[in-house]
Amino acid sequence: MTDLSKITCIEDLRVIAKRRVPRMFYDYADSGAWTEGTYRANESDFQKIKLRQRVAINMEGRSTRTTMLGQEVAMPVAIAPTGMTGMQHADGEILGAKAAKAFGIPFTLSTMSICSLEDIAAATNGHPFWFQLYVMKDRDFVERLIDRAKAANCSALQITLDLQMLGQRHKDIKNGLTAPPKPTIANLINLATKPRWCMGMLNTKHRTFGNIVGHAKNVGDVSSLSSWTAEQFDPALSWADVEWIKKRWGGKIILKGIMDVEDARLAVASGADALIVSNHGGRQLDGAQSSIEALPAIADAVGREIEVWMDGGIRSGQDVLKARALGAQGTLIGRTFLYALGAFGEEGVTRALQILHKELDITMAFCGRTKIDQVDSSILVPGTF
Ligand SMILES: Cc1cc2nc3c(=O)[nH]c(=O)nc-3n(C[C@H](O)[C@H](O)[C@H](O)COP(=O)(O)O)c2cc1C
Repeated sequence: MTDLSKITCIEDLRVIAKRRVPRMFYDYADSGAWTEGTYRANESDFQKIKLRQRVAINMEGRSTRTTMLGQEVAMPVAIAPTGMTGMQHADGEILGAKAAKAFGIPFTLSTMSICSLEDIAAATNGHPFWFQLYVMKDRDFVERLIDRAKAANCSALQITLDLQMLGQRHKDIKNGLTAPPKPTIANLINLATKPRWCMGMLNTKHRTFGNIVGHAKNVGDVSSLSSWTAEQFDPALSWADVEWIKKRWGGKIILKGIMDVEDARLAVASGADALIVSNHGGRQLDGAQSSIEALPAIADAVGREIEVWMDGGIRSGQDVLKARALGAQGTLIGRTFLYALGAFGEEGVTRALQILHKELDITMAFCGRTKIDQVDSSILVPGTF
């Protein structure tokens, strides 16, 4: 066991991940679309929101426990679906799922994961997890993916609606992002400086897209995420498809990528169980609002009819608390999870969850609340949100 007691914030984990993870995969995580304006705003808009400091209120008996989709969670945080997670660290998705299970929060597996649905089910002894679905043109393949998710005991399906086409991230093009990396001189030189990562990869058989390779027919070069997305993702995705998927799945549905009140109303009309206010971590529409800025209007409009969650820019437990205060029943973490994983594998993810939990618990207490379910916008300074 590594002593991670000196790792005190998520930024510590990011700095170490940058050192340990090959450049193309670190850059894949730490990037947004085009100018990265929305990516930056996702983080910086949290800083503008100010908390009301309250004193002489009994702070004993605190709890951050709550529910997401009726499921009890240790805190209102779930691990977001992220593609190629098994390239941040060998077996990354398995390690993330195990850490989430032990901590008592949900884990979401991406369609574009390295470890497959079946790998996660086997590694967590059938513990329920969530599956994120991208809708491909090949509907047979989508149907089989849905059936595999059921067989793997997934308890909810997240349909991502904001990636009918891939937004442009400059770094991925410049780095020639593939999984596994191609043996170019630049890559080999960079990999030579990442011995820990290389050893991990040598010791696993999970090195390319596990949900796809061997399951999808007539696919071209899967190793290149961008060309595969362009070939296979369905740009004609519509609300009728959501209905079709909901029927086929027959279980709980979460719609991911809602940033507009009108779309939120359509999400309610679709009969979904939850929606995620999300701009894909600033990776799709650059120039969109930050998620935390978009959240209050959506929560006000539909929060009584559907469970509203958010993701984008969560780097501390304070961010979780602010999201909760502005109407999000739950939050999801993308990069916070990836940096922790890239830095220290499963132990890193556990450490990140401990850090978020402690920050959430202490901040809640300083704001004069002992139960997360008592938190609302009255903990925030008016005019700062
Ligand atoms: C490297 C990376 C890969 C991602 N891959 C997916 C994906 O496969 N499916 C998906 O729905 N969202 C994906 N996302 C978006 C996340 O689920 C989430 O919306 C976003 O990371 C939240 O922002 P944050 O990273 O600031 O927490 C990805 C995000 C990152 C950073």
